Amino acid sequence: MATGLVSYGRCFCLISGASRGFGRGLAIKLADKLAPGSVLFLVARNAQDLAEVKTIIDEKKRNLSVVVLSMDLKKPDHEVFKVAINSALKQCDAKADEFNTALVVHNVGSLGNINGTTLDVVDINELRSYYDLNLFATILLNSAFFKIFTASSTGKQVVINLSSGAAVTPFKTWIYYSTDTFPTFVIVGHCHTSDPF
Ligand SMILES: NC(=O)c1ccc[n+]([C@@H]2O[C@H](COP(=O)([O-])OP(=O)(O)OC[C@H]3O[C@@H](n4cnc5c(N)ncnc54)[C@H](OP(=O)(O)O)[C@@H]3O)[C@@H](O)[C@H]2O)c1
Repeated sequence: MATGLVSYGRCFCLISGASRGFGRGLAIKLADKLAPGSVLFLVARNAQDLAEVKTIIDEKKRNLSVVVLSMDLKKPDHEVFKVAINSALKQCDAKADEFNTALVVHNVGSLGNINGTTLDVVDINELRSYYDLNLFATILLNSAFFKIFTASSTGKQVVINLSSGAAVTPFKTWIYYSTDTFPTFVIVGHCHTSDPF
């Protein structure tokens, strides 16, 4: 990680699901590696946990800006995401074109209902609610992020998507998780193969 990040320069990094688990750990680790003047924009629902992550990073005194936002990603909205990212920039008194790298880490995720097999999936509302968070939020957050950090305004655009072996190997009762990890895997792959920017 250290060698790769040297070339990132000043970085704007959004991490979804950064209040606990892997996202929290990644935010704290990245804070040791990012260049001064970089921004960590941490999104999750639990404001108290996010504030705790911010305090840990601020105490490192690395000349980073940490912006936290309590937001329920289960209600994905492209325009709301754009407003949130622009607001984070404003809070740091920064503009998108001042960053050498724009990095988005799609870490938020849940297993969904793991109490049955494929034939037990019968509730469309449960399916919709699951995909709102695990698939649609990723797609719309990704497009909002790169509408702001465009190829012409930002030196390097980097997308990291947290996936799992379940994206390629079906687990008997992990229907929801398996069916969302594969499309997000494809969508993020599509970003660089089709160069939609
Ligand atoms: N754990 C594993 O063994 C494992 C293995 C392979 C892949 N992964 C992948 O790695 C990623 C992280 O896993 P993890 O185990 O660290 O997860 P976790 O501990 O459950 O953390 C999930 C994060 O997402 C946030 N979150 C959940 N629902 C949200 C919502 N509606 N809106 C906004 N934020 C929400 C949570 O914060 P709030 O509750 O504060 O919102 C939390 O910060 C996931 O994508 C997972 O699929 C995990």
